[in-house]
Amino acid sequence: MPQPYKINSIEEYYAAYNKSVQDPEGFWDDIAGYFLWKKKYDQVLEWNFEEPHISFFKNGKLNITENCLDRHLGTLGNKPALIWEPNDPEEHHRVLTYRDLHNKVMQFCHVLANNGVKKGDRVCIYMGMVPELAIAILACARIGAIHSVIFGGFSAQSIADRLIDTHSECVITCDGAFRGNKEVPLKAMVDDALIGCKFVKRVIVLTRTRTPVSMIKGRDVWWEDEIKKVESNGQRDFPAEIMDSEDPLFILYTSGSTGKPKGVVHTTAGFMVWTAYTFANVFQYSGDDIYFCTADIGWITGHSYIVYGPLANGATSLMFEGIPTWPDAGRFWDIVDKYRVNIIYTAPTAIRSLMSYGLGPIQGHRLDSLKVLGSVGEPINEEAWHWYNENIGKKRCPIVDTWWQTETSGIMISTLAGITPAIPSYATLPLPGVQPILVDDHGKEILENEVTGNLCMKFPWPGMIRTTYGDHERCRKTYFTTFPKMYFSGDGAFRDAKGNYRITGRVDDVLNVSGHRIGTAELENAINMHTGVIESAIVGYPHDVKGQGVYAFVIFEGSKEDMNMVRKDILETVTRTIGAIAKPDKIQFVNNLPKTRSGKIMRRILRKIAEGEMHAIGDTTSLLDPAVVTEIIKGKV
Ligand code: WTA
Repeated sequence: MPQPYKINSIEEYYAAYNKSVQDPEGFWDDIAGYFLWKKKYDQVLEWNFEEPHISFFKNGKLNITENCLDRHLGTLGNKPALIWEPNDPEEHHRVLTYRDLHNKVMQFCHVLANNGVKKGDRVCIYMGMVPELAIAILACARIGAIHSVIFGGFSAQSIADRLIDTHSECVITCDGAFRGNKEVPLKAMVDDALIGCKFVKRVIVLTRTRTPVSMIKGRDVWWEDEIKKVESNGQRDFPAEIMDSEDPLFILYTSGSTGKPKGVVHTTAGFMVWTAYTFANVFQYSGDDIYFCTADIGWITGHSYIVYGPLANGATSLMFEGIPTWPDAGRFWDIVDKYRVNIIYTAPTAIRSLMSYGLGPIQGHRLDSLKVLGSVGEPINEEAWHWYNENIGKKRCPIVDTWWQTETSGIMISTLAGITPAIPSYATLPLPGVQPILVDDHGKEILENEVTGNLCMKFPWPGMIRTTYGDHERCRKTYFTTFPKMYFSGDGAFRDAKGNYRITGRVDDVLNVSGHRIGTAELENAINMHTGVIESAIVGYPHDVKGQGVYAFVIFEGSKEDMNMVRKDILETVTRTIGAIAKPDKIQFVNNLPKTRSGKIMRRILRKIAEGEMHAIGDTTSLLDPAVVTEIIKGKV
């Protein structure tokens, strides 16, 4: 299907941008006109950032799956919607056309309904990267249940936290997941989580790895058996539930600078319009392009740019179960050649990891189908940018460095492939509808260019966060009070003379490790749970592959006989409480932490030590005991 809202030239970009600022309502009204509504909205936008209250397309009625599936059937019914490449290259791949996907989603809607799931219920999904994950998500959306996908790297404790916070009575999982040469026991992890979550009434388990699992009578059912029942009942069509524009579509948990992860809530219409619009424009998808996003659906990138954005545009989305380095570091490039991929969207950490294998794994690959290269998740350093450009894009594919967040649900600042100019390490210009503003630490707008400031948004866009699940005040405090009347991203940015933005990284206590957000407070809490640990402080330091590594300073007062073992025990505690993805790279045991007289840890100093920038530690006179610093420097790992 043609994307009528696609920008085709730089002039069109400026025209769209200007209109989106001067007449935002008219701008979004035009774009929303290209979607399928069951009832048109009465008002395009209603908002204030004080509460905050954001409503796009008020009183509109729709179902996002009709926009992603049903409306394409006439023209694109036989077009591949999803191509699935399994972990093991020897296993057969799968292709689901729009018609296949539509049928499977409707079938699974019956499964959900037969198992008591209804509109408004929350459903947690903890699965590997199999097509059934996309099917489960879309079926929830069709039935009006709010999905909350949990990344497969999270621990049982993290699953339990999310089940409790969302009060989900239904969980969808797999027996296990394949990742490289490993098998991840997903169902066993869910079982551990459920020990403390008796309110969960149903677990639907897909067979993937055939790992033996316990199936509890009355609670656990097999996906395949449930599908058979639907078939033998002759249940086929499943009409899409009528949803309000502002009905929640999903909850996705993300880490912030304080406490436990928060459930970011996105709503139906705004999310749909925003992800569809940004997908079409940033990647310049056309015709039968094969689009390959390497992210996991457990993160926002997978939600917006494997599932909803591409499908809303009638695109072919390639989904990959495995990892970039197994069976070898040429895996991505094998996939690109196998399917003649036109657009690849990956993360700087993957690029840097592949760089470390040299050019060998690229040799013997054509890569000539590629047209556009994308990057997301963290700042892409110039070296990685050039490597990607020269060795993968062969200098003929525009690179889109896309800056955005779980909270923004879609790309905010990026070049439009081949339309607006790319600059290495710059995300460049805002998308139409995005009004960035840089402010100083007092919240004063920085008007001049060639400066760095705190990156905020002064106007709403359709896909923005609506609330944090069950705690609206937390949403207000986290994003809308640091700088009044603005959405604060938590990132710093530099703006050049032409208005291009270069993201400089988080300015809060959030680390970005291999593109994963890790809250330092959350990680400290996890480490402090370990017996013998008195206190800890987490900071980031530059890491060649991960972007940032995690450095833990730990005061330990237990038995010190075998500190190596203690180190391992601490890692295990983190794995249990959050998940393996949050494990510190370095642990240094210290006797004291540098604190001010009021007892606040001076992280600035710890950061400098972790970075090895001892000369830049600066003034330590405000510390309660400056000698602590010398001692910590001596013990640096
Ligand atoms: C960082 C991922 C620089 C940033 C979509 C942001 C980036 C956080 C970029 C959000 C980029 C993401 N350049 N930094 N192109 N993209 N970030 O919520 O710090 O997992 O705040 O969303 O990743 O991470 P999240």
